[in-house]
Amino acid sequence: LVQKDMAGLGVLVTAGPTREALDPVRYLTNRSSGKMGYAVARAARDRGARVTLISGPTALPPPPGISFKAVETALEMREAVLEAFGAADVVVMAAAVSDYRPATVSREKIKKGTVPVTLDLVPNPDIIEELGRIKGNRLLVGFAAETGDLVAHAQAKALKKNLDLVVANDVRQEGAGFAVDTNVVSLVFRDGQFLELPKMEKYAVAHRILDAVLELREDRVER
Ligand code: PMT
Repeated sequence: LVQKDMAGLGVLVTAGPTREALDPVRYLTNRSSGKMGYAVARAARDRGARVTLISGPTALPPPPGISFKAVETALEMREAVLEAFGAADVVVMAAAVSDYRPATVSREKIKKGTVPVTLDLVPNPDIIEELGRIKGNRLLVGFAAETGDLVAHAQAKALKKNLDLVVANDVRQEGAGFAVDTNVVSLVFRDGQFLELPKMEKYAVAHRILDAVLELREDRVER
């Protein structure tokens, strides 16, 4: 039985990829399935939190008992996140947001040709970095897909973006990261302390993340 130890807390979660249109029928995206973020949303709901899940396009059904918003692009995700941010005490950004989008979206389907073409891409806003600047006393959790020096890179990200916790996926390991049902992560704190977790189901990883979030909240009250 899950304890209702998050009752009264507002938890905002992002999940899935974003989809950046090139023309009416084509887009750029990535391999995120949404499984990790949806697991965080379900775990927080099961612990009694008020949960808002903002999701890019996935094949998963919206979990019952939470407020759900579907978005497509990084710009739409940013807008939805900023709108829900005010009511949140805890924010967990598990989405794999596209770092770039096509500079222009062609109104017509791009025609086939025989010469090489180049895509012009412009950077998308970094949503979590923006939240880091306005976070007040909210707890802000980011994810990082890493391939080496997991802890050092994640700590650097935490400090640069003003995050309380970075969940570093070791994407070199089998059963970790994109699309699979399990994950292998280290929870990395701002001070460089970290907790290395073994491979486990994403729902179990989600609970370990929320355990860490609650501990951070308690530390804060004690200080
Ligand atoms: O969806 P699944 O198939 O279950 O896979 C889960 C996952 C691997 C996608 C997930 O666990 C994960 O690691 N998500 C973040 C992936 C990533 O590429 O992170 P990043 O290094 O691009 O971004 C770091 C953090 O900044 C993330 O919290 C991200 O949500 C956030 N970000 C990134 C770019 C951007 N423009 N805005 C952001 O807010």
